[in-house]
Amino acid sequence: MAAWSDWKYYRIPNRLIIFGIVSGIMSLVFQAADLEAGSKIPWLLLALSGFLVRGVAVLVLGIFLHSLGMIGAADLKLVALLAAWLGFSETIKILCVGFILGAVWSLQKMLRYGSAFQRFLYLSAYIRQILSNKKIEKYYGNKVYMRGLIEFTNFCKNNCYYCGIRRDNKNASRYRLTEEEILDCCKNGYELGFRTFVLQGGEDPYFTDEKIVDIVKKIRNSYPDCAITLSIGEKTKESYRLYKEAGADRYLLRHETANEDHYRHLHPEQMSLANRKQCLRNLKELGYQTGAGFMVGAPGQTLECLAEDLIFLKELNPEMVGIGPFIPHHDTKFADEPAGSVELTLFLLSVLRIILPKCLLPATTALGTADPKGREKGLLAGANVVMPNLSPVKDRKKYELYDNKICTGDEAAECRVCLKNRVKSVGFELVEDRGDVAL
Ligand code: 5AD
Ligand code: FES
Repeated sequence: MAAWSDWKYYRIPNRLIIFGIVSGIMSLVFQAADLEAGSKIPWLLLALSGFLVRGVAVLVLGIFLHSLGMIGAADLKLVALLAAWLGFSETIKILCVGFILGAVWSLQKMLRYGSAFQRFLYLSAYIRQILSNKKIEKYYGNKVYMRGLIEFTNFCKNNCYYCGIRRDNKNASRYRLTEEEILDCCKNGYELGFRTFVLQGGEDPYFTDEKIVDIVKKIRNSYPDCAITLSIGEKTKESYRLYKEAGADRYLLRHETANEDHYRHLHPEQMSLANRKQCLRNLKELGYQTGAGFMVGAPGQTLECLAEDLIFLKELNPEMVGIGPFIPHHDTKFADEPAGSVELTLFLLSVLRIILPKCLLPATTALGTADPKGREKGLLAGANVVMPNLSPVKDRKKYELYDNKICTGDEAAECRVCLKNRVKSVGFELVEDRGDVAL
């Protein structure tokens, strides 16, 4: 009955187990009835305690296997019932026969659906991985890395339709940090334990290659033990090379969407998806730890777009992937569009953790804006990076990509403490480390 129910409904109901327990006890009672009057009760007591001890013993051992995900709860209850009723050796025989029948059944199913070859490939890849690593790797354990974000300019020559600091937003109050201010942010960050600085800005022509190279070199010389990340948009391969030679290690450039039509929906004519993808490939070729990514729930995004994003990311194999929910900005043409879903973002973080196990995944500020516990939930879903802001508080609010951005009023030191506690609250540890990608 259990096999039939498992096959038909993929479950073994508790009612069936209770029925089994009652039947097992009844059968002992009937057996005792045949015995001589004086030995009935002692025999029954002994038989019942055997029933109980065997059942509990299997449950205790099985709970350990269950916690490792090796056996389902219903299967465990069934095996315990069999052992209680029939004894250990009969149960082992039944299990062996069951395993053989199960293997034959699976084999015919794989052959019938043509997946045998593919499954064999997965299995051999898995075995090879275990043999070469000598262990099944858990890449980052419970460590969460922090990046100090320095938003150094909100001038931008682009006009992305979703972005609050786009060129045509005349209401944006523009600012640029001086070189001295940028270096001050790094100094402050270093003292707070940051070992990665992310220089992020709009595509601001004021910051020529020469200026960027100069700033990167100064940070590199002052903080040789820190990673330098740039996030300043689309540049020529030559420019990327110059920044790398100056000392930059990483580059963040979200692809925004891997679907051509969707890209057009989000960006004006002057920008192209082909160029964006080429930039990402150039960055990888130059040896940057490269970050791509997209907004979840951006206007016009369909499930097909998300599937294309995941396929693109799997092919590109970036070291970092930044995703966060789309949040409307009041001065853009998407002002009245709904925000992206937090749940879908969390789901996609988990999918990314599985398809790119080694990648560094930030629990983004947008996720923290869309849900007060968004970043904690992000970590639980598979993220392992947080990016608190090191920019001067006087300018924070002006880097307004979307409405209601959090952490715009707090000093970096406050953000640091706040994040440390948040990370700890979900069982992770915030570490002071460059946090390079696992090899
Ligand atoms: N909502 C959420 N994320 C946004 N970004 C830009 N505008 C928004 C918005 N309205 C993201 C983009 C960009 C990154 C710096 O911020 O993906 O690449
Ligand atoms: Fe340039 Fe958004 S349009 S940063």
